Amino acid sequence: MSLIVSVIGAGTMGSGIAQVAASNGCKVNLIDTFPNALENSQTKLQSILNRLVEKGKIEENEAKSILANINWTVELAEVSQSDLVVEAIVENMEIKQKLFSQMESLVAEDCILATNTSSLSVAEITSACNNPSRILGIHFFNPVPLMKLVEVIPTEKTDGELLKKVKSILESWGKTVVTAKDTPGFIVNRVARPFYGEALRIYEEGIADFATIDWAMKEFGGFRMGPFTLMDYIGNDINYTVTETVFSSFYFDSRYKPSFTQKRMMEAGYLGKKSGRGYYDYSKDMPKANENRDLGKTILWRVLSMLINEAADAL
Ligand code: NAI
Repeated sequence: MSLIVSVIGAGTMGSGIAQVAASNGCKVNLIDTFPNALENSQTKLQSILNRLVEKGKIEENEAKSILANINWTVELAEVSQSDLVVEAIVENMEIKQKLFSQMESLVAEDCILATNTSSLSVAEITSACNNPSRILGIHFFNPVPLMKLVEVIPTEKTDGELLKKVKSILESWGKTVVTAKDTPGFIVNRVARPFYGEALRIYEEGIADFATIDWAMKEFGGFRMGPFTLMDYIGNDINYTVTETVFSSFYFDSRYKPSFTQKRMMEAGYLGKKSGRGYYDYSKDMPKANENRDLGKTILWRVLSMLINEAADAL
């Protein structure tokens, strides 16, 4: 589908969304307030496309046309001709609300407006807008070009026809679309909470150490990464903040209670892979798991039963 798409925020997510839209023949405005962010985004995309050409995944002229489809700019006013605008700026309610109010006055009446928020209420972000019927959440996952799943989140006021249109745009980009309720964490980030939370509880109860819990979830559950490896990969600061947001948004329901173990990690600067140390110290050899099969299966079932309950509630 050849559309004019504007993406606001040229960070990790915005750059990925722009790449996907541009690869599917859309003309894209990639807008950021910081020229540096635009430069970084452009340099990164250039090197991603070079690698794809080297590996023979795309032709050189395809790479050129993807780049030519993207207009990197600091001018918010360039959204004016858009069919679809996706906001992917900093995760802050006031800043997002302000941007949506500004955008409304810049785009045509039939332009679709979307937020890529991962944990804020879509209804609240758009509460000050004059025409909330054309607004919804489109939640991509990182890295956007590789992750097929996209959650679309209509609010009470989103037009049902618009929802269908958005789904067909995303499907034409090769995405698998699920509709999620406008509840904290939507589906994926909510169902993921017990994966971390229950694993942290098992550790805090002294049942097993990080390496053993990770081993059990991989060995018996078939997960690609155990919860502690994954938290180290995401960053303990980010993961802890999402847990806190989900906890307070669910009126302090104890099943989402953040863990002191993770809070202390964050306070110590043990953020995970990016700081060289988190649950694991990446300058040393990895600790050995206690490969006791009964213990492993107990760990798996404790975490899995919480995941299943959460999924049943979220869907
Ligand atoms: P990021 O920090 O990499 O990029 C944000 C960009 O927005 C920065 O380049 C910044 O300069 C720009 N920006 C900030 N305020 C702006 C404004 N008013 N106008 C224009 N540009 C502005 O952030 P990231 O990780 O790309 O996240 C963006 C959004 O996507 C957030 O809402 C986040 O919760 C959500 N998200 C993030 C995921 C992730 O794995 N990083 C996954 C799914 C959603």
